[in-house]
Amino acid sequence: MSPERAVEAVRDAFVAHARGEWTMPPKVYVTNYPAGDFRAMPALGGGFAMLKWINSFPGNPALGLPTVSGLVLLSDAENGQLRAVFDAASVTALRTGAAAVLAAEVLGRADARSAAVIGAGVNGQAAARTFVARGHEVALWDVDAKRAHRAAEELGATVAPSLAEALAADVVVTVTPGHEVLLAEGTLAPGQHVSLMGADGPGKAEAAGAELARCRLFCDEWEQASHGGELAHAVDAGLVGREAVTQLGEVLTGAAGGRRSDDEITAFDSTGLAIQDLAIAIAAFEQAGELAGLGSLEL
Ligand SMILES: NC(=O)c1ccc[n+]([C@@H]2O[C@H](COP(=O)([O-])OP(=O)(O)OC[C@H]3O[C@@H](n4cnc5c(N)ncnc54)[C@H](O)[C@@H]3O)[C@@H](O)[C@H]2O)c1
Repeated sequence: MSPERAVEAVRDAFVAHARGEWTMPPKVYVTNYPAGDFRAMPALGGGFAMLKWINSFPGNPALGLPTVSGLVLLSDAENGQLRAVFDAASVTALRTGAAAVLAAEVLGRADARSAAVIGAGVNGQAAARTFVARGHEVALWDVDAKRAHRAAEELGATVAPSLAEALAADVVVTVTPGHEVLLAEGTLAPGQHVSLMGADGPGKAEAAGAELARCRLFCDEWEQASHGGELAHAVDAGLVGREAVTQLGEVLTGAAGGRRSDDEITAFDSTGLAIQDLAIAIAAFEQAGELAGLGSLEL
């Protein structure tokens, strides 16, 4: 699926969720620490039900295994029949890149030119690929310089000369593991936008609480973002409250305002929603039918 189609699908999902048309029970964690954990992410909408069963095993690279793996199951919501099965990592990368760029386009300044992605791993590359597909020039930065260069060459991006220069782009996307703070207080300048994608679970952070407090704040979903996302540490420290944070879907439906001035710094906290996965799974299922010259595929 093209990144452009993924952006449209994810936009529609945020809108349908904000209108109450698509629903999503909270994500369930099944933990087996310190080895890793499993996550069950269900959603219903568009005539389908979806379950993403995905895991995170941080020690796996040392064993030659992927950190993250799993499946997405897509079922017909009318008769319960399983319609398609997808690789969860591919669906996740498409929807994560789409959400990062969608938020940057919606919340960034209208005259924003430069874009940077910090963290050139699986999902950072997906964000960079989406920027390029949407016609934006993008610079990559990673602590692993070789990885940044390889990815930039493959994606038609450039490599930022330094972290400071990447952080100074008009729109910035961060997709690191969230073990260290990239944005200390005072890093961002008036008018910038940052999509914070990496800190999607408890104990992770890419921005200092005091830096978040300087920003006009947006998130994908308050419950997830305030409990396990980037905002969680700022909420726990009493720096940010519910009233200060707007959900992206409400901006997209027009129920809430987005950026209010060219001087505002905007920040989007993404934790990753099951409705995004559902949107990609439906679009991929439809596309498979189109490619096969069929209205739909029979399993
Ligand atoms: N918000 C979401 O929807 C969403 C979706 C998927 C993944 N994630 C999160 O995004 C993060 C990255 O996931 P991934 O699958 O791309 O991981 P990955 O391991 O493929 O890539 C991470 C990259 O970050 C780089 N990195 C590490 N520390 C850095 C630093 N301080 N500065 C710059 N680069 C640094 C690494 O070298 C690596 O290239 C994880 O925390 C993951 O949980 C969020």
